[in-house]
Order: sequence, then C-alpha cells, then structure tokens
Amino acid sequence: MTTVLVTGGAGFIGSNLVGLLRRERPEWTVVNLDKLTYAGNAESLADLRHDPKHVFVRGDIADADLVDHLLREHAVDAILNLAAESHVDRSILGPGIFVETNVSGTQVLLECARQAKVKRFVQVSTDEVYGSLGPAGKFTEESPLQPSSPYSASKAAADLLALAYARTYGMDVIVTRCSNNYGPYQFPEKLIPLMITNALEGRRLPVYGDGLQVRDWIHVVDHCRALLAALDRGKGGEVYNFGSDNEWPNLEIVQRLLELLGRGRELIEHVKDRPGHDRRYAIDASKARRELGWAPQVSFAQGLEQTVRWYQGNRGWWERVRSGEYRSWYERNYGAR
Ligand code: NAD
Ligand code: DAU
Repeated sequence: MTTVLVTGGAGFIGSNLVGLLRRERPEWTVVNLDKLTYAGNAESLADLRHDPKHVFVRGDIADADLVDHLLREHAVDAILNLAAESHVDRSILGPGIFVETNVSGTQVLLECARQAKVKRFVQVSTDEVYGSLGPAGKFTEESPLQPSSPYSASKAAADLLALAYARTYGMDVIVTRCSNNYGPYQFPEKLIPLMITNALEGRRLPVYGDGLQVRDWIHVVDHCRALLAALDRGKGGEVYNFGSDNEWPNLEIVQRLLELLGRGRELIEHVKDRPGHDRRYAIDASKARRELGWAPQVSFAQGLEQTVRWYQGNRGWWERVRSGEYRSWYERNYGAR
C-alpha cells in the first residue's frame, strides 16, 4: 500500500500525472494538494470527483501546519512536488510570488517531509535552470545552472535546496529537469495552447521577436511516465534530465498548428521579444534512459495532432478558463470545503 502526495495536481502536468497514477497504480492513494491559483483548475480533475483514492485538498505548500498534518494523517510515503508558479512572462511582471511558492514553499515541503520521515521526495524541475544554449550541444545533468528569468532562478534555488536536504540530512530526494511539455489541460497562456485557442477564435498569434527560438518538446504523458520511473527506480541525491530529442523553432510550431487547424499564416503577428529570452533549449536525457529504463513513447506528429483535436473537442474547458468561470468550479462542485 502506497500513499503519494502530489502537489500542484490541479495544474497542467499535475492533473495528467494524477490521472496516470489512478489508472496505472489503482491500489495507491493520491493526496492532491493544490492552492488553486489562476493556473489550478479543479475541473481538470472532474473524472476523479467520486474516487475515494483521490483526496483533493485546497491549500498552500508553504503552509507548514497543513502540510505536516497531511503527511501524518495520510501516512504519506512519497512526495512529488509539482506546485509552482510556472509562467516565465508572469515572473518578469511580478517575481515575488515565484520566490514565495517555488523557493519558500519547496523548503517548507522538504522540512515537513524530513520531520515526518517521508521515504522519497521528487522535486519536479525544468531544463530552464541551465539557461540558454548556442546552436549546438545539449544540456546534461552536469551543465552549469545559469537561469535567465525570475521563474528559472526560483526553480534553480529550489533544486539546490532539495539537493542540500539530500546531502545534509541524508534525505532521499531526486531532482528531475524536463523540457517543454505539451498536451491536454495546459493553461492557454503557454505557446501551444495559446496559439491553438487564439486560432480557433480567429485571433492574432503573437510570436515573440523573430520566432526562431528553439524549444525541445515532450508530450506531457511521457513526462509523467518519467516521473513515475524516477519515483520507482531513481537514486536519492541524483538529478535526471527528461526530453524527447524533439527541437523546433517556435515559428515552425505555430505554422504546423495553423496547418492542423486549416487556418492561414496571416494570423501570425511578430510582437516585441520577451526580455532575457532564452534562445535554445535541448536536453540530453541519456541518463534517464540508461538508469531509469524510461523512453518517450509519443511521436510529435501524433501528439501535436491529438493536442489540437483535444482543444477543438474541449472548447468548453478553455472557454471557461478564458472567461474566468473555471475559478468557481471548485465551489460549485465541492461547496465551501
Ligand atoms: P501549472 O502552472 O499548470 O500548474 C501549477 C499548479 O500549482 C497549479 O494547479 C497551481 O494552482 C498550483 N500551485 C501554485 N502555487 C501553489 C502553492 N503555493 N501551493 C499549492 N499549489 C500551488 O504548471 P505545470 O506546467 O503543470 O508545471 C508543473 C511543474 O512542472 C512546475 O513545477 C514546473 O516548474 C515544472 N515543469 C513544467 C514544464 C512545462 O513545460 N510546463 C516543464 C518542466 C518542468
Ligand atoms: O522548458 C521548460 C519550461 O517550458 C517550463 O519550465 C515552464 O514552466 C514552461 O512555461 C515552459 O517555458 P517557456 O518559456 O519555454 O514556455 P512558453 O510556452 O511560455 O514559451 C515557449 C516559447 O514560445 C518561448 O520561446 C516563448 C515563445 N512564445 C510564448 C508565448 C506565450 C511566443 O513566441 N509567444 C507567446 O505568446
């Protein structure tokens, strides 16, 4: 019998992970702690509303009393920490909350886990901690940490705290660093869902600068499977990179999306570049392949098409996000709990 605490489980990757856990580890209990910030959407977990092995708790990872209570009440064996402020553009506009959640919140979780003797802690991080690459090469786990944005700096700080807990207190902590995810339930502020939903509404598609920045895309379910592999077979104190060897310039992504949607390129609008914009990310995931026995399974052609069809078929989900109606879904379905 295993009980895992997933934090940020109402977000994009978290809701996909909780769904995967309930499908593939049916005997496990999943405690899902999420603050339901603007990025958290309880509607993404609608299928699990009556599932007795999914315990949803609305709360903050930085609330030590709450976290301590949850770890002891549910006898949590392992934590997967996905709760975060995750959007680079928002971190440029207001970095404070990124430090509160991503740095202080992670430290609170680590400390509570240490006190409650949680067996394993997986800190879900990002390739953005490595900064920007030139035209060649890939990030390995040994690449220096050179974050560019307040978001990536806060994630790098959390990684270092997590690894410090492993070294100083002998805690079993693993840090994972994944490249750009795409798939269902992604908040339509990130590149792929923003472009799909804008195109579906006939709005302009804002491409930053020349649009030749390169990202290395991985399907969210491949990332979630990698997290389970790290939980099952990772070694405490280690860092694992995850990626799909799938680099594309942003402009090509936008053009492929327009083709899949049957829309023309006239919707594309080049706008002012993001300050401090990283030019290229590329991940060397050979350590995870070798040591965790994990490999991505979803081809980009298939995954991108499925994602486009998901947004076409789930218009209500993203329209309620855009109108703000999604924020009252929790109250309507769970009352004041
Ligand atoms: P997201 O913004 O979609 O979801 C974040 C979730 O965390 C939301 O449900 C939000 O309500 C919750 N949350 C925020 N602050 C909280 C707090 N203080 N306490 C409890 N819950 C809180 O993000 P995502 O894209 O799903 O990313 C999840 C994690 O994976 C993040 O840690 C992110 O850094 C990391 N990551 C994301 C990507 C990507 O491409 N999206 C890639 C690599 C790593
Ligand atoms: O690499 C992993 C990271 O990927 C995660 O850690 C972050 O949480 C996640 O948000 C993502 O960060 P990016 O900054 O790469 O993602 P975003 O979708 O914001 O942007 C992807 C690229 O597209 C980037 O080069 C900026 C560009 N872009 C983005 C938006 C929102 C545009 O050109 N126009 C846009 O409107």
